Amino acid sequence: MKHYIRFPRADGTHSRQAHADLPEGTYEREMGKEGFFGPAAHFHHKHPPTAWDSFAGALNPHAYDLNKLPASGNSPWEATPFMGNGDVQIRHWKTDRAMDHLVRNQDGDELLFIHDGEGEFYCDWGRLAYRDGDYIVIPRGGMWRIEPSASTTMLLIECTEGTYTMPEKGILGPHAIFDPAMLDVPQMDATFRGQQTDEAWKVVVKRLGRHSTIRYPFNPLDAVGWHGDLCVVRINVRDIRPLMSHRYHLPPSAHTTFVGRNFIVCTFAPRPIESDPGALKVPFYHNNDDYDEVIFYHRGEFFSRDNIKPGMVTFHPCGFTHGPHPKAFAIGAKHARKETDEYAVMIDTRFPLEVAALPEGIENRDYVDSWTARPTR
Ligand SMILES: [Fe+2]
Repeated sequence: MKHYIRFPRADGTHSRQAHADLPEGTYEREMGKEGFFGPAAHFHHKHPPTAWDSFAGALNPHAYDLNKLPASGNSPWEATPFMGNGDVQIRHWKTDRAMDHLVRNQDGDELLFIHDGEGEFYCDWGRLAYRDGDYIVIPRGGMWRIEPSASTTMLLIECTEGTYTMPEKGILGPHAIFDPAMLDVPQMDATFRGQQTDEAWKVVVKRLGRHSTIRYPFNPLDAVGWHGDLCVVRINVRDIRPLMSHRYHLPPSAHTTFVGRNFIVCTFAPRPIESDPGALKVPFYHNNDDYDEVIFYHRGEFFSRDNIKPGMVTFHPCGFTHGPHPKAFAIGAKHARKETDEYAVMIDTRFPLEVAALPEGIENRDYVDSWTARPTR
């Protein structure tokens, strides 16, 4: 347990409860440690903290339209590297062809997030059908391949040198957000047994980013059974029942779905918007002072961001002050929307992310200016 230099103090005109009953005409900004878990200060500003005239330099936020990326071969090892650091590598893969080989990732557990498409996923443990909105967690070393029946776009989120775990549920109990009984596992069914032929197959193994190829005179997905407590699992975002409070805007960390090494993966799913008159109705302004924040937009209308469509990504580096876009803030202030319909995947990393070189036109270089219109209250 950390012994923070931590004791509550207050000065000037302020509310007592974070994110509620703000002093008239003020804008709350949270400065916080440990990604919303640690010590925090809430400032009540006279102006929106994002109402800058100009913003230039390395702390710039970024927005990318990954829909514009081309198809990237029929191997996940040909996926487009997008961002990463020593703990996580994020790749974007668009494919419509069945893989003609198996892959095995020895660098870390792999989390697939299926943005679009459907098909079959084959692995050491059997077969499962996949569809859009699926998370598939593949333990490090598991062999797998896919056969898309519809063009498939996914994120591959590698937990480098680490293991995906589930978040601490604490006082929520084990069945909140999603019941572990909702986790699907592959089946060793007739279709799986049907692909166990004596045709030659190869396995391409990735270790330290380098590939090794192992050739077999048969399909090595030939297990006839298995037992143990290590397995591919799948959960769909439609099966996530998000936490919310009608009186308090919960921090994004409340939506943690998986925990990696020095990063978390959160899911924003449709939920009612806070109804209490004094409760904040939109995300609070904040600088997440210890974590980089990446959001991949999957489905729906993204209520706190203007001009963001499914398949896009925003990247807010640690320390970049942000919050709702002006239009969203105005809608929130009037409580004009009663619920969100958005699905998004957020990846918050403790250590800085590097963005790979991307083709021209993928990044929206005007994104930093999207906050500059002054909100009306
Ligand atoms: Fe944020």
